[in-house]
Amino acid sequence: MATRRSSGQSSTPAPRPGSRSRTGFSTYGTRLPGSVIETLRGTLIVIEGADGSGRTTECELLHEHLEVQGHAVLETGLRRSNLVSEQIDEAKRGNLLGSTTMALIYAVDFADQLENKIIPALSAGYVVLADRYIFTLMARAIVRGATQEWAQRLYQFALKPNLTIFLDSRPEILMHRAFSRYQSLDYWESGMDMGLSTDRFESFFKYQALLKSQFDWMARDYDFYRINANRPPEEVHRDVRTRVQGLFDGVRIESYR
Ligand SMILES: Nc1ncnc2c1ncn2[C@@H]1O[C@H](COP(=O)(O)OP(=O)(O)OP(=O)(O)O)[C@@H](O)[C@H]1O
Ligand SMILES: [Mg+2]
Repeated sequence: MATRRSSGQSSTPAPRPGSRSRTGFSTYGTRLPGSVIETLRGTLIVIEGADGSGRTTECELLHEHLEVQGHAVLETGLRRSNLVSEQIDEAKRGNLLGSTTMALIYAVDFADQLENKIIPALSAGYVVLADRYIFTLMARAIVRGATQEWAQRLYQFALKPNLTIFLDSRPEILMHRAFSRYQSLDYWESGMDMGLSTDRFESFFKYQALLKSQFDWMARDYDFYRINANRPPEEVHRDVRTRVQGLFDGVRIESYR
């Protein structure tokens, strides 16, 4: 497998037609009962990053690009299951549940989508674009007191993605984006439930730093491809496209540091 280095400014890898050889999937441990994953034909691409890092923007741009290239694409994300998404919204509105219960409900939401959306789409050969995956859920649970081992065990049934892109952006930039969108900082995005500070700005920075420290070890252990997301969307998208093309061509490209 060829190796290239991306500096954050993209360079297009030489195409290697026909070199795509990935087949089947594995999990981090157990699997959903009755699921057959070795024969799945599709591709699972995860876009991770903090709140406001541009995940949805990049998913939309990538979705369009892949469809133009002739791929069938399905987007998925958190809180989109038929089973419990409404219950999660309700629990968030009233801040009704403890952190362990919240983590377990998010796991149910994820499992339902994995079983009923992601695996069937991969079975049909789709490219599945996940706007967040188990990594955000693990990070949120751990910063609220779960151990790393507990979080990893909770999600051991998850499929290992073919590619996990991490949009890396500075907290000040995230804060400006949140402000220009909502003229305020969101209660949950600021981690206000954790009692880090009564001041929402201070809480936001503390909370984002805690999450970032979790993403840092995951980036190593789960082989994230980090992209400098402090740049305009088109520049970020150029790097996203280059890395995804590398995936299809079987070319490995190293993250920027
Ligand atoms: N690279 C970028 N540079 C500047 N602004 C951006 C960039 N990417 C996205 N934005 C803008 O920042 C805001 C957040 O982007 P987006 O909704 O894509 O992020 P997100 O990570 O999906 O956020 P959320 O966590 O709220 O779902 C939007 O107003 C979007 O237009
Ligand atoms: Mg979004």
